Amino acid sequence: MPILEVNNIRKSFGSTEVLKDISFSMEEGQAVSIIGSSGSGKTTLLRCLNFLETPDAGTITVRGEKLFDTADAAGRSDARIAENRLHFGLVFQQFNLFPQYTALQNVMLAPQLAAQKAKIPDDGSILAKARRLLDEMGLSDRMNNYPHQLSGGQQQRVAIARALALSPDILCFDEPTSALDPELTGEVLKVIRALADNNTTMIIVTHEMSFARDVSDKVIFMDQGVIAEQGTPAEIFGDPKEERTKRFLASYTRGAM
Ligand SMILES: Nc1ncnc2c1ncn2[C@@H]1O[C@H](COP(=O)(O)OP(=O)(O)OP(=O)(O)O)[C@@H](O)[C@H]1O
Ligand SMILES: [Mg+2]
Repeated sequence: MPILEVNNIRKSFGSTEVLKDISFSMEEGQAVSIIGSSGSGKTTLLRCLNFLETPDAGTITVRGEKLFDTADAAGRSDARIAENRLHFGLVFQQFNLFPQYTALQNVMLAPQLAAQKAKIPDDGSILAKARRLLDEMGLSDRMNNYPHQLSGGQQQRVAIARALALSPDILCFDEPTSALDPELTGEVLKVIRALADNNTTMIIVTHEMSFARDVSDKVIFMDQGVIAEQGTPAEIFGDPKEERTKRFLASYTRGAM
């Protein structure tokens, strides 16, 4: 059974249809990259998957459980949306850490709120997990620093640890390195690569084409609100079928690749 099935998602803002019938699926442990030019709808798709936007139509199914279905009004309740969000973690381009909290506190906050809500007593496991995650991100000596005391690459690694803290089924990245200098990009790509090597299920929106080619099991090319082409990295980068995929990739081979 696929871990995620997305079927016929549509989303408009006003009269502009930004997502036009998006369907794809992925298996547990896979890394899927989404590439495409600016404005093609990549962020909007991730926001729909994370229930930060409500699709106008379509279904989102995780491990066989239909989380969202336009036909099901009950699925739109705040409680259901909050529950649905737990299946996904999202790492933003701009980190979005809480400035008033240390790295450790940023990672612990969501699990602490969840434990309080469920009336689960604190047995130290949230702290232990936060420490372990920050350690895995190479930040064991930065746990008590505030965001302003950290480099962009370090802040992004805290954000990744924070996204992992609730053990999401699927971890989503929206251009996780595009706000970083090239030397800091490498350290963040390295931890994402390590997550992929550990079979973390991930969706990565990225402009780093060589990274997408290396790390992904599947690549989705979006153009003007549709999936224009999807396939293995070898198919998409080595032998693209669609004219618009070829054109998009050609604009990169001249620069970034
Ligand atoms: N909240 C919103 N209200 C109105 N229009 C929006 C909103 N969010 C996105 N859009 C529009 O939807 C289209 C797709 O935007 P989106 O951010 O999903 O693109 P993207 O592929 O992530 O682009 P980029 O590579 O620049 O991040 C754009 O035309 C954008 O202006
Ligand atoms: Mg975007």
